[in-house]
Amino acid sequence: MDRLVNFSTTVSWGITDPQRFQQLMDEAKSLVTGGYYLGDNLFTWCRNNSALEDPAFIRALQTNVQNSSDEAIAWRRYLLACSASHAIHLNGDFVECGVYLGTGIKTVIDYFGKDRFDKKFWGYDTFDYHPTKGHDFEEQRNGLFQKVKERFAEYSMVRLIQGLLPESFQQGCPERISFLHIDLNNAEGEIASLDHLWDRVVPGGLVILDDYEWAGIYREQKRAEDRWFQDRGYRVFPLPTGQGFLIKR
Ligand SMILES: C[S@@+](CC[C@H](N)C(=O)[O-])C[C@H]1O[C@@H](n2cnc3c(N)ncnc32)[C@H](O)[C@@H]1O
Repeated sequence: MDRLVNFSTTVSWGITDPQRFQQLMDEAKSLVTGGYYLGDNLFTWCRNNSALEDPAFIRALQTNVQNSSDEAIAWRRYLLACSASHAIHLNGDFVECGVYLGTGIKTVIDYFGKDRFDKKFWGYDTFDYHPTKGHDFEEQRNGLFQKVKERFAEYSMVRLIQGLLPESFQQGCPERISFLHIDLNNAEGEIASLDHLWDRVVPGGLVILDDYEWAGIYREQKRAEDRWFQDRGYRVFPLPTGQGFLIKR
C-alpha cells in the first residue's frame, strides 16, 4: 500500500542553466514525500508511476533504449502502450506518422510480445533526412531507412514506408485504423496526415499527437490541430506529458 516508486533522469529540454537546474531539482526531490518522476520536462510527486510497476513495459522500454531521451520519455511511451492495449481489441491497423529509429513502434509491439501482436503496424517517415530544415535528428542520413528495416527484420507485421507525407500514403495505407500516433514535429505534415487518415480511424480508435501540448516552436501544431478538430466537433485532451489524446466517436 505504501510502495513508492521514484524515477529521475537529467533529460529535459528548454533549460538555460542545466547545472543549477539539476542542483535545485536534487533539493526539490529531497523535499517531497516520494513517488516522484523527473524528466521529459515533468516533475511530479505522490504519483504511482504505474509505468514503472508494469514489468512487461519496463522490459519493452529498456530493451529498446537507443539514446538518453528514450528513457526519459517513459511516461509518454507508457501512454502509447496503454492506448495500444485498448486499440488491439478494435478492428483496424496501427499507424505511426514519424518513425525515426522505430523505437516507439518497437516498444509498443514488444510490450505485448511480437508473437502475440496480431495487428499490422504501418510506419511512415522520410528516414534518411528530416524534411523540416534544422530539425534533423542524429543518424538522419543516407542509410537510416536500411538500418531501421533491419531492426524490424523479425517483425513481419511492420510495414515501413519511406517518403514524404502525405504523398507517401499512395505507396500503401490501411483502410481501417484503430491506433494513430502522429509525431512529425511540424503542423503542415500533421494536418495533411489527419486529412488523409481521419476518416479511416474506426469508432473507438485512438489518436495520440506527440507534440500537441508542447509550447514554443511546437505551439503552431496545437493551434492548427485545435482548428482542425474543432471543425469536426472534437476537443483534444491536453496531457501533462506534452501529448494530445483523442478518442474517435
Ligand atoms: C520526433 S521523430 C519521430 C520519433 C518516433 N515517433 C519515436 O517514437 O521514436 C519525427 C520524424 O518525423 C519525420 N517527418 C517529419 N515530417 C515528415 C513528413 N512530412 N513526411 C515524412 N516524415 C516526416 C522526420 O523525418 C522524423 O524522423
